[in-house]
Amino acid sequence: MSLTIALSKGKLLTGTEALFRRSGLAFPNGDGRRLVVECGSLRFLFVKDMDVPTYVEYGVADCGVAGRDVLLEAESDVYEPLDLAFGHCRLVVARPAGSGFEYHRASTVRVATKYPKVATRFFLERGVSVEIVKLAGSVEIAPGLGLADCIVDVVETGRTLVENGLEPVEDVASSSARLIVNRASYHARREDVTRLVGILRGAIA
Ligand code: PRP
Repeated sequence: MSLTIALSKGKLLTGTEALFRRSGLAFPNGDGRRLVVECGSLRFLFVKDMDVPTYVEYGVADCGVAGRDVLLEAESDVYEPLDLAFGHCRLVVARPAGSGFEYHRASTVRVATKYPKVATRFFLERGVSVEIVKLAGSVEIAPGLGLADCIVDVVETGRTLVENGLEPVEDVASSSARLIVNRASYHARREDVTRLVGILRGAIA
C-alpha cells in the first residue's frame, strides 16, 4: 500500500496516531518538526487542519484526516468514505453569558469566527444579516472585548467558553474526524485506498 496521507498537526493528531497504531499501520515517531515523513510504504504530510482538504483535493495527498467542521468550511470536492469516530465536538453559536443577546433581533449580527462560510450560511438561512469578523484563533475573547456580538466556534468540553464568560445558544453542526480521499486517487489507486479504508474501519472503536 503506497499512499500519501495529509494529517493535521492540531487537535486530531493524537487520535489519528492512536487509530493508526491500533490498526497496525506505520506511523512516524517524529519530533514534530519534519513535515513530510516517509514511514513504511506511507508518506505523511503534517499540515494545518484547514489545509488538509486542500492537499487532498489537489491530489498532492491521496487521503487525509480532517474534522467535519473543517470540511464544512472548506467545501472541497473530495470523497468522505469513513467517520473515524474520534475528535467529537460541536460547532456552536455562543454569546456572553447572561447577556440575553438574541441574534434574530439584531439588524445585523457581528460574528467572530474561524469558520466564515459556515457562519454566513447559518445566519443567512435564518434570514439574519451577518457581518463576519474572521479570526485565526482565540475567538472566545472577541465578544468580551467588543469585537463581535457572538461567535461561531468549536466546543469540545465547553471549558474555553465558560472560562471566557460565554454560553452556547445554538448548535450549528456536530463534528468528528473523517477520512477523506482524493477523487482521482479513489479510482486510480482503488486497491490501496480500499485496503486503507478496510484497515481503519476494522480498528474504529
Ligand atoms: C478549539 C476551539 C476552542 C476550544 C474548545 O481551540 O476553537 O477554542 O478548542 O475546546 P473546549 O470546549 O474543550 O474548551 P484550539 O485549541 O483549536 O485553538 P484556537 O481555536 O485558539 O486556535
